[in-house]
Amino acid sequence: MVDYEKLKRDINQILGIDLTAYKDQQMRRRINQWVERHQLNSYNQLVETLDKDLEHREKFTGYLTINTSNFFRDTKVFDVIEEKVLPEISRGNRPRIWSAGASIGAEIYSITILMNEARFTPSLLLATDLDETALEKAKAGVYLPNQIAGTPQKYLDKYFTKKSNGDWIIDESIKKQVIFKKHDLLRSVYERDFDLILCRNVFIYFTSETQKRLINSFVQSLKPSGFFIVGSAEQIMDPASYGLQRVSYCIYKKTL
Ligand SMILES: C[S@@+](CC[C@H](N)C(=O)[O-])C[C@H]1O[C@@H](n2cnc3c(N)ncnc32)[C@H](O)[C@@H]1O
Repeated sequence: MVDYEKLKRDINQILGIDLTAYKDQQMRRRINQWVERHQLNSYNQLVETLDKDLEHREKFTGYLTINTSNFFRDTKVFDVIEEKVLPEISRGNRPRIWSAGASIGAEIYSITILMNEARFTPSLLLATDLDETALEKAKAGVYLPNQIAGTPQKYLDKYFTKKSNGDWIIDESIKKQVIFKKHDLLRSVYERDFDLILCRNVFIYFTSETQKRLINSFVQSLKPSGFFIVGSAEQIMDPASYGLQRVSYCIYKKTL
């Protein structure tokens, strides 16, 4: 539909999000739902509203980028991270770790907690996202009960404080170890020399062509033998063609 092509261009101009790299069907469905829910008459009216209403723009960005996340998401994967990945990259080394598409920070804080518990010392804990509102939430470190539900009780007791309204705040000792930055996976330059990169539950929204381009960029950003972790629904077909080897679940290791 011509209309939708124009909408993609307008969204790119207003929000800086390049929807041509995302799966059309999924994005269109989401946008149509938004238009309906907000009783907008057309894509044009959506664009006008985005243009003049900052709050609507921020909410729409959050909705479009789908920044759902929670602590220790996929317990089995975190078990392997704790038992194998973090010890291996920390052996005689201060690892550089990057959570790409970090959203509200739950993933990188989970990693930071595990590093702390094992007394491993990272040289960099980097968390990046396209969505500035999600990054602000990450920096604030305040979470809803459902976002911390997967956190082992011993870590809740040690690293979180429960507020009177039921929200949970992560401890400053964990928060201050992480660097949060705005970074667009489609356009920004990727830093190098990482021992571990997590890019989970982000790929599914991209076209397969974009997925391939991004996987290649991530592999280039890894040190030899570095680990790359994707979401559990994002298994990489033919990892060898990227110079990766599957370790377990959705955890890969650079073979060079
Ligand atoms: C579903 S969340 C995943 C959060 C976390 N990695 C996890 O697995 O719980 C997807 C995140 O990817 C981010 N994202 C989407 N497109 C992006 C892009 N082009 N560059 C950087 N981040 C992007 C969204 O803003 C969102 O916060």
